[in-house]
Amino acid sequence: MHLRKLIPFIGLVGLCCACVFAQQPAATGLVDAARGRVAIPDPTKPPPLTNSVNDDQRRPRNYDMQPPTIPHRVDGYQIDKNFNKCMDCHARDKSAFTLAVPVSPTHYIDRDGKALQQISTRRYFCLQCHFAQEPVQPIVGNGFENVDALAKKAADASQAGKK
Ligand code: HEC
Ligand code: HEC
Repeated sequence: MHLRKLIPFIGLVGLCCACVFAQQPAATGLVDAARGRVAIPDPTKPPPLTNSVNDDQRRPRNYDMQPPTIPHRVDGYQIDKNFNKCMDCHARDKSAFTLAVPVSPTHYIDRDGKALQQISTRRYFCLQCHFAQEPVQPIVGNGFENVDALAKKAADASQAGKK
């Protein structure tokens, strides 16, 4: 048979294998960290959220252009077509009074690259990109290292090589 005619069969066999394995998470050791060992049709009981961290400590950023996380509570802050509570403190003409970090100039640039006098609609809904933090243990491990840590490792390694 010509190889091209075989392609749908190969696909079908692959799909069957995927289905068989997907139905046996315990046998393959696959457990969704977010769901635990709860059967797929059953709802899980997530732990209740506590109050988000409100220590006012600005957190370091891990990479260029990372939106900074929010170091204060934002519960109930109104953001709609009438009012943006965040801009009440974070607008550049308010920050001298509120001592909030003014939103950066990027937040005033529209999609055509034009600098506006007011916040750009692209940056209006702050919580699309910025998040208050919950004081919980992450359910999925994360070995992310920022560029400074990697550069230091590389420098240490080359130092060790020279000795
Ligand atoms: C009552 C004033 C006030 C309001 C309202 C407010 N903030 Fe803040 N925000 C601050 C201040 C002051 C800081 C500086 C750190 C601190 O003291 O908490 C800050 C810090 C931040 C930071 C950290 C900036 C950085 O560079 O690390 C982010 C992000 C932020 N706020 C986002 C928001 C968002 C999003 C909202 C709306 C949901 C909001 N803030 C509403 C006062 C405010
Ligand atoms: C589309 C994503 C996005 C939205 C929406 C957004 N931001 Fe940001 N914000 C960023 C990114 C990315 C950065 C870091 C790079 C930069 O300054 O552009 C940032 C930086 C900031 C900073 C730190 C400024 C500095 O000079 O250190 C503050 C404060 C902030 N944003 C507040 C806000 C507030 C308040 C809103 C809503 C009015 C908002 N952002 C909406 C992505 C976003």
